[in-house]
Amino acid sequence: MGPVEPPAGKALPGHGDLPHAAGRPVIGQRLRTAQRDRFAAADPLVPTPPPPPDGEVVTAATASGEQVAGVLQTKTHAPGTLDLLWSAQRVWQLFPYPGETGTEGMDALLRAWRRRMDAESPGPDSACTVTWPSRDAPAIHAFLRHGMVPVSVLALRTGPPPAEIPPEEVTVRLARPEDFEEVLALTKATFDYTALVTSHHRPDAAELMAPQLRRNLAAGAPIWLAETGGVATAVADCGWVDSAPGTWAAELLPKGHWGYVNNVATRPGSRGNGIGRALMSTVHRDFARRGATGTYLYYNPTNPLSSVFWPRQGYRPLWTFWEVRPASALR
Ligand SMILES: CC(C)(COP(=O)(O)OP(=O)(O)OC[C@H]1O[C@@H](n2cnc3c(N)ncnc32)[C@H](O)[C@@H]1OP(=O)(O)O)[C@@H](O)C(=O)NCCC(=O)NCCS
Repeated sequence: MGPVEPPAGKALPGHGDLPHAAGRPVIGQRLRTAQRDRFAAADPLVPTPPPPPDGEVVTAATASGEQVAGVLQTKTHAPGTLDLLWSAQRVWQLFPYPGETGTEGMDALLRAWRRRMDAESPGPDSACTVTWPSRDAPAIHAFLRHGMVPVSVLALRTGPPPAEIPPEEVTVRLARPEDFEEVLALTKATFDYTALVTSHHRPDAAELMAPQLRRNLAAGAPIWLAETGGVATAVADCGWVDSAPGTWAAELLPKGHWGYVNNVATRPGSRGNGIGRALMSTVHRDFARRGATGTYLYYNPTNPLSSVFWPRQGYRPLWTFWEVRPASALR
């Protein structure tokens, strides 16, 4: 198998794609230690947080005077980039350091951020975002109170491979370069559906995805097709991601060699017939055979199909991607 490009588009920004503060302690040691302890207590699978990223520091205090802080980063995605498949064009991302203050410190910080946003004119294609451990329950209340919604979760599967599903009329095979048109059409079905169940719609999704999909097929990426009576009915576009010290992945995933499930869709008229289950049983068994630590993916909690399908497939949330659009709607 040739080199496969990193999976497209949906990599939730942890700190990995941002410069870390070099030498300058933007966030004090007390808050950094509290962050490490808070993440570890919330979820043992969440990696130890990296040093704070560079950016503008936002500060606040709780009613009892406990100081909390966050680092604010802004990003503008260029037209035509894959990030636009899941992200607003202009993004204000906060990296909170709420200490051990439960809901209150996060709430105070989000209030300070709201005031800070008064100095901006974000425009319609914009968002305020935070990526936070899914199981830190006290933070959830604060995010909701400020108008943020859980738009996506990164979920992990670390269980043993499932039993083989006896092939009835479904056959599952690796896609080849000549399957490009069918793979693209099925992949587009995911975006057509998510446009209905999320606030994010990119009519140009297929054009954005096509070049990378073509290259990944040519490189022999693990892109799987399910066929029913010889007709392609589902796709699972997958890849490999190494979480090794110093990589972006190490900030999101436990150390290891992870299978990434990027895009899965069953043709609209064929859903609910067990094709997705048969497809994923092949995918999960193949990843396990090749030594994967586990597999991970992103799904939208508001997607009534995938939010049920993936937990039943053994996935559980690790990170939640909170967002409010447009950025001016932060409360
Ligand atoms: C998620 C998805 C890939 C699952 O594929 P699928 O071929 O429908 O999967 P299955 O038939 O194996 O399982 C679907 C489950 O929903 C149930 N279901 C019932 N009616 C359904 C319907 N009209 N449509 C879809 N699923 C239905 C099925 O019975 C099954 O539950 P079960 O495990 O209890 O039997 C498919 O629903 C899909 O393409 N959704 C739109 C795109 C999408 O959301 N992709 C995932 C992005 S993360």
